[in-house]
Amino acid sequence: MNISYFKNLGLFIAIVLLTSCNTKKQDKQSVDSNLKFACQQTSLLLKDAEVAQKIPRTVTADGHMHWTRDGFDWTEGFFPGTCWYLYEFSKDDKWKKAATHFQKKFEEHRLMPFYHDLGFVFNCSYGNGYRLTGNEQFKQMLIEAGNTLMTRFNPNVGCIQSWDVDKGWQSKRGWQFPVIIDNMMNLEMLFELTEITGDNSYAEVAKSHADVTMKNHFRDDMSSYHVIDYDSITGEVRNKHTAQGYAHESEWARGQAWGIYGYTICYRYTNDIKYLRQAEKIADYIIAHPSIPEDRIPYWDYDAPKIPNEPRDASAAAVTASALFELNGYSDKDYLTEAKAIMNSLSSNAYLAKKGKNHNFILKHSVGSIPHNNEIDVPLNYADYYYVEALLRLRKIEAQHENKGSL
Ligand code: GLY
Repeated sequence: MNISYFKNLGLFIAIVLLTSCNTKKQDKQSVDSNLKFACQQTSLLLKDAEVAQKIPRTVTADGHMHWTRDGFDWTEGFFPGTCWYLYEFSKDDKWKKAATHFQKKFEEHRLMPFYHDLGFVFNCSYGNGYRLTGNEQFKQMLIEAGNTLMTRFNPNVGCIQSWDVDKGWQSKRGWQFPVIIDNMMNLEMLFELTEITGDNSYAEVAKSHADVTMKNHFRDDMSSYHVIDYDSITGEVRNKHTAQGYAHESEWARGQAWGIYGYTICYRYTNDIKYLRQAEKIADYIIAHPSIPEDRIPYWDYDAPKIPNEPRDASAAAVTASALFELNGYSDKDYLTEAKAIMNSLSSNAYLAKKGKNHNFILKHSVGSIPHNNEIDVPLNYADYYYVEALLRLRKIEAQHENKGSL
């Protein structure tokens, strides 16, 4: 081997290092510019919310802003939650004020025992607020919301009941004790309450719920049912159904996302390997799913009958990406590639709104519930929340990689 061989090899290595360094820089810049865009767009949404003194949820089929209900609305925590995340990114007090103001609007709901969504509502708002400010009042709200949620736990079943069955469309389904896969998302608040109060009963309920759900909600291939209906006395499974998916035996996209996210949380708090394996198995199944399109944004149901002519669900994609960023930090497998691919698509013109468009929501093209003919191909406040959360997670990962690279 002559000298010129080594020179060329040296040049090649330098180019590879420089290119990878530049790519990392570009990635970081693009995450920051997406977060800055989220600040700009949500500033416009905040102005709308301040005028109406209401919390934005989505856009109606005829193109009007749809605010959260004055009573309990499962999505009411997401807008203040997004404000908390933008405060975390920008350190601009305007976001702290906005989050504090809008979360106060539903503080009374912490005492409402009729809804399992207390975890979504209070953890995304007051939970983030407490994490970022240490405000004792926020902690108190969280504890009281958690105590209310605990009243929905039935030891015969080992789960927290999702919907009540004595009113609304749920009363027409013949269920006794429905538990939906979405309910895995309420466990984070319970685990967190054990951390901040030292009272283990919250985590015990969360673990029981996760274990029973692991046993009954998943098919052999690791796809999940949406609703498992239990006998409230014997704890036996009565029905395996759907509510928001295409069919009982189909795979509702957001439900699969809640599953990965939920079991990743369980592992975060317990270090119990069974939860990590569960999250990995769900993720592996979804990533390899033949109905996931090239841009990695799923159709609203993996088995929707008219694929590829079915609406996509950007909210499911955002939840999945955020969960995969966390899962990647615990697993030996690579989930970063998939999470980044999802985020690249969500951050493209196809899904990211133009400034001042899309009723000032960040993401386009989500689905609430097609069987209920509700929120089809619209922006949703929770799609924005999990997208911003995912950007912050990616930003942290990139900062860690940069630090490692500079050692
Ligand atoms: N119930 C929460 C959802 O629609 O995903």
